[in-house]
Amino acid sequence: MKIASIVGARPQFIKLAPFSREIRKKHREILIDTGQHYDAEMAGDFFSEFKIPKPDHALGIGSAGHGEQTGRMLIELEKVLMSEQPALAVVFGDTNSTLAGALAASKLNIPVAHVEAGLRSYDHTMPEELNRVLTDHVARLLFCPTDVAKDNLKREGITEGVYVVGDVMVDALEESRKAAEKHSDMLEKLGLTKRNYQFMTVHRPANTDIQENLENIVKAVGRSGVQTVFSVHPRTAKRMHEYGLDTRLPDNFVITKPLSHMDTVSLVSNASLVLTDSGGLQKEAYLLGVPCITLRDTTEWIETVNSKWNVLVGSDPKKIHDTIVHLNPPKHRPKIFGLPGASERIAKLIDEYLAHE
Ligand code: UD1
Repeated sequence: MKIASIVGARPQFIKLAPFSREIRKKHREILIDTGQHYDAEMAGDFFSEFKIPKPDHALGIGSAGHGEQTGRMLIELEKVLMSEQPALAVVFGDTNSTLAGALAASKLNIPVAHVEAGLRSYDHTMPEELNRVLTDHVARLLFCPTDVAKDNLKREGITEGVYVVGDVMVDALEESRKAAEKHSDMLEKLGLTKRNYQFMTVHRPANTDIQENLENIVKAVGRSGVQTVFSVHPRTAKRMHEYGLDTRLPDNFVITKPLSHMDTVSLVSNASLVLTDSGGLQKEAYLLGVPCITLRDTTEWIETVNSKWNVLVGSDPKKIHDTIVHLNPPKHRPKIFGLPGASERIAKLIDEYLAHE
């Protein structure tokens, strides 16, 4: 049968790769790229890195305000879905591309499957939280990475079509980890030694668009004196330039552009610590056994905090500094993200669903 996979932002290419391989074994996948991310390092490279087939439809939407970006996606997605008439539309994660895909399909009465369903930060100021909640409420199939996600859905009255399948990133990460061990030369390139540096990313509007918050984060991490690889998202680069922060970064910072997944995994797995406001990176740090400091007040991966491998510090400079100095996670790291094979389980559940429709 024909299945439309809708992606557009960087983390979605990572999640798509193992799914795409599985679903193509039995079905015809129509790949739709909204073009939410368009810089080569944010989008283009992932197609070659993960050997994702070329999109059947590249919508080229690009950046805009949330309403305009989502609206333009809706207009273009509707046209494509009407002409393709897929039996199912699959959306991933929590970006504007996720919501636009879910809305466009469900309005055309095309059933929606949501990969990474049920995650909640309970922070309604985050655009991703709105995208998650709305997508889950129109999805027919909800693939949850964890039991916590399933319970979140239950609390909102969603119990039908809900499956705990484990996390699709476990598979993607394992592939990138193997490739990184063999092929990544990032440590040599940046002159780093294992466990002697920390890895940082910052891209949430709450941290980048409020100058004081970004300054506080940079200052606190600078004060730690630990060598810090800062992989800078385009949004953050723009803001740092606006604030003049790019010319007065502390000496312990090593700046890089957004990296390939393989190079990121190499840097994360050899780091002493990860500092991030990304959802995906909190999870990858955990899976790779590297402690994480989350530069937010909430997280959708509360299990990583409960197991004491992740600490929420927001952009509070004192908390950031004290946690860098004192964070010492326990030896035990429970398998909260499930076993490998989530994409295979999802593909099988989709088969069963389509067979009964
Ligand atoms: C989006 C997702 C976020 C995800 C992140 C991963 C939403 C609401 N947010 O945030 O959940 O964690 O992707 O990276 O969908 N830009 C470029 N080139 C690009 C992409 C973005 O320069 O290729 C700049 C533009 O100035 C743009 C800004 O970054 O305005 C924000 O991009 P956008 O895609 O709207 O949101 P992200 O912050 O990337």
